[in-house]
Amino acid sequence: MILSPSMLSADFAVLKEQVKEAEQAGAKWLHIDVMDGIFVPNLSFGACVYKCIRKHSNLFFDVHLMITKPERYIKDFADAGADMITFHIEATENPSECIDLIHSFGKKAGIAINPETPVEAVFEYRDKADMILVMSVHPGYGGQKYIEEVNEKIATLRKICGKDYLIEVDGGVNAKNIKSVVELGANVIVAGSAAFTENITASVKELIKLAE
Ligand code: DX5
Ligand code: ZN
Repeated sequence: MILSPSMLSADFAVLKEQVKEAEQAGAKWLHIDVMDGIFVPNLSFGACVYKCIRKHSNLFFDVHLMITKPERYIKDFADAGADMITFHIEATENPSECIDLIHSFGKKAGIAINPETPVEAVFEYRDKADMILVMSVHPGYGGQKYIEEVNEKIATLRKICGKDYLIEVDGGVNAKNIKSVVELGANVIVAGSAAFTENITASVKELIKLAE
């Protein structure tokens, strides 16, 4: 299991220190939520923010684009230091071209689905993409409640994608439910408000331990 702490819940005034703390506590990935105020109601930050963190961190940068027509910005996100770029299937008319574009910059490509999108929508892209991200909250904000109805999607994807395929679950995962989400078949877990707490070290260590 890979824990991907979501930077969205960090204190941006001390972002570098908090990201370092998560890394020292054992995290291998950093989840980076980009929001445009159109695909989702909220705005977050752009590539320039994580570009500044890139030189201080060896974490795998797991960039989650919640932006409409992601193809417009993929080069910028790749240049800023992403390792994986995940876009939403609902945000583009050309998912296949987006995957090709991400790969053309030497980055891994992920494809995300919202809670209301049927899991079948991603089937045709699973071989081409490197990861499928299942949203377990309506994207836009950290700290929401996990939507249990997505459990079936996670189990279905694990069955059809094989045992090693990357299946990421994002939203509402905490110390109470992380184990069950992993047991359903997720092998990459995003945690925002449960990881960037008052005690990042203890929270990240606990989440990793619980999911083992
Ligand atoms: C929500 C974002 C998530 C968010 C998760 O739109 O995609 O990555 O940061 O935060 P928590 O873990 O607090 O639900
Ligand atoms: Zn996310």
